Amino acid sequence: MKKIFLSLAALCMAFLAVAQPQLRKDNIEDVLKAMTLEEKATLLVGGARAAMVNGVTSGVDWNVPGAAGNTRPIERLGIPGTVLADGPAGLRIQPNRQGTSQTFYCTGFPVGTLLASSWDISLVEDVTKAMGNEVLEYGVDVLLAPGMNIHRNPLCGRNFEYFSEDPILSGKMAAAYVRGIQSNGVGTSIKHYAANNQETNRNENDARISPRALREIYLKNFEIAVKESDPWTVMSSYNKLNGRYTQQDVDLLTTVLREEWGFKGIVMTDWGNKAGTVTSTKAGNDLMEPGNQNEIDRIIAGVKDGTISQEELDRNVRNMLNYIVRTPRFNGYKFSNKPDLKAHAQVARKAAGESIVLLRNEGALPLKGNEKVALYGVSSIDFVAGGTGSGDVNKAYVVNMVQGMENAGFTLDKDLVNYYTAFQAYDKAQSALSSTGFSWFSRRKLAEVAIPAAAIEKEAKANDVAVVVLGRNAGEGADRKMMDDFELTSIERELLQNVSASYHAAGKKVVVILNVGGVIETNSWKNLVDAIVLPWSPGQEGANAVADVLTGKVNPSGKLPMTFPVNFMDHPSSANFPYNYTQSATRGFSWGPRVPQKDVDYTQYEEGIWVGYRFFETRKVAVSYPFGYGLSYTTFAYSKPVVKAVADGFEATVTVTNNGKVAGKEVVQLYVAAPAGGLEKPACELKAFGKTKLLAPGESQTLTLKVSAYDLASFNETTSAWEAAAGKYSVLFGASVEDIRATAAFTLKKARNWPAHNVFALDRK
Ligand code: BGC
Repeated sequence: MKKIFLSLAALCMAFLAVAQPQLRKDNIEDVLKAMTLEEKATLLVGGARAAMVNGVTSGVDWNVPGAAGNTRPIERLGIPGTVLADGPAGLRIQPNRQGTSQTFYCTGFPVGTLLASSWDISLVEDVTKAMGNEVLEYGVDVLLAPGMNIHRNPLCGRNFEYFSEDPILSGKMAAAYVRGIQSNGVGTSIKHYAANNQETNRNENDARISPRALREIYLKNFEIAVKESDPWTVMSSYNKLNGRYTQQDVDLLTTVLREEWGFKGIVMTDWGNKAGTVTSTKAGNDLMEPGNQNEIDRIIAGVKDGTISQEELDRNVRNMLNYIVRTPRFNGYKFSNKPDLKAHAQVARKAAGESIVLLRNEGALPLKGNEKVALYGVSSIDFVAGGTGSGDVNKAYVVNMVQGMENAGFTLDKDLVNYYTAFQAYDKAQSALSSTGFSWFSRRKLAEVAIPAAAIEKEAKANDVAVVVLGRNAGEGADRKMMDDFELTSIERELLQNVSASYHAAGKKVVVILNVGGVIETNSWKNLVDAIVLPWSPGQEGANAVADVLTGKVNPSGKLPMTFPVNFMDHPSSANFPYNYTQSATRGFSWGPRVPQKDVDYTQYEEGIWVGYRFFETRKVAVSYPFGYGLSYTTFAYSKPVVKAVADGFEATVTVTNNGKVAGKEVVQLYVAAPAGGLEKPACELKAFGKTKLLAPGESQTLTLKVSAYDLASFNETTSAWEAAAGKYSVLFGASVEDIRATAAFTLKKARNWPAHNVFALDRK
């Protein structure tokens, strides 16, 4: 009897398993068939933002406190929930949890702009391999990174998260970032797709961009990342693009991303609910984040009334299932909650050191290491490791410049350190009295405090060298301003003038450290000082890395991933950027139709493809520091290059020799100037780059750089095709865009073209 009962039970189980398949990698279609409409809709809508609630977990194991979001489980079919967390300068989760004294800190790595300044693909892969290990070991499935919007204008508040003004550098960096993270078996989300180039009114702003500029500048980097790294996910942006919300744009999310580029993963929204759930679902936006029941209901209703077809629904659900089977959650990975933070801190320090850009050095650096140093600037104490908003990492500590310099063996002027420390304490007490509390979006940065000229004069006698730290922070939700941000404040200007005058009078040098998240004005003051070091926001170990560069322990080899203009208004995009916008209290609350405000409700990208050096070099507008620029403590010679035609383009080789006195690394930038006859082109465009290993004095290395015919193409709006004109292309090998060391040529015998879809018209509906 018992036997019969047991075999009946087994039969029932087997029947249930057939009726209710449990998700495996090889039965996605069966699971899809077994899902109800409600379950399908549920899978397309993320969980609520419960993880943000202080210290409280929701009691389910797919929720990591502080993670930005998750996907919902469907237990009946063995579909686990998965966890998504920010990015990009490290994993962002909550460091403390209720009921345990254990901490869950993550490493604060260098920001995206500093990583891009390395121009070093393998360095970025090493950094993100370590970062991805924290994602895995803290139980997160997808890192919401890298941020990769183009630096259209210096004042975009999130530029520090992004890589470059150039789509090739940006795309290659993003691809390296994705490969590094995903080598851990966790996913990435390349963001914000697309044209999220300003923070002002980012939820509604309509970026109006010509199809050519869009294809060549704002999409090209995403195209490269998708083709070269297979990111698991893409995050659509908040803004509109030529009249449509990007998350509702079938041209962007399906025609171009999937059909033209071959993207296989899922697209998720950025973190806000739009009313257009149905349009987004149809457009190929697979996942709404963070989600709510209304969105599930809208999808169900959309399918029932036929607005969403069964194919569209199943296509998105299939994408989701394909994503889920890749995740550590699905694969039952037992995360430790104990990544090796000590080892990763060393990775962060090394990466920062290798990426720092030396902008100026008139015999001031390297220092000997035993000098008595006067450290000026509140940012020497209030050092900015990263930015604010979702890109801010909860790290265990930040080494500031005082600690960094002391760790390196320098003796600091104690009175100055005490002065700034006391100011910081005073400011903290004051703001505790007046402030309305901490805001995620607007963590305050200490404003510079004046030092009397007479005091500086005295200090100049008592110290060997002055190091002035100028700081800026920025972040999600607001753009920077032209005054007192891009421009120096009057106190900063006075500080530089007084320090330079007194130290130079005493026969001593002045070094400036730019601890900034974005480009600032340098032209008016750079000649006052002897050296300028640019570590951007270099992560928790960054100040140690700055000290490594100051002492020469690390020979700087970073190069600028964007142009430093003379004036802010020199950038053609500045004419159409909200550079002094302050949110009006009544905006959005007034009755009746509002006249759309330029640069707020919509932004005309009138400059077209003339972004960054493409403009400055073509129109011959003088800059303060050009794209690709960066000094070293040694010098390099370039050999005569060889350019050889290969099956689909050319291969260039050039030998770089360290002909200076100390070991160093060189970045070789390959620019191409197109022949006349095709579309109008910039004077030159970056097409490839490479970095040498550490070359000892006298040592050489041959770099091989490849460029395909497609890489040479520009987008013709009339024919909706990528076109490469036939003729002779000059191939320029530069130490910066303005320092071309060697040239060669390549002839494309026959014109080539690659048809693309005719989408993104400015007047599309
Ligand atoms: C940001 C994204 C971020 C998301 C989740 C959004 O406000 O724009 O970059 O990944 O929040 O925190």
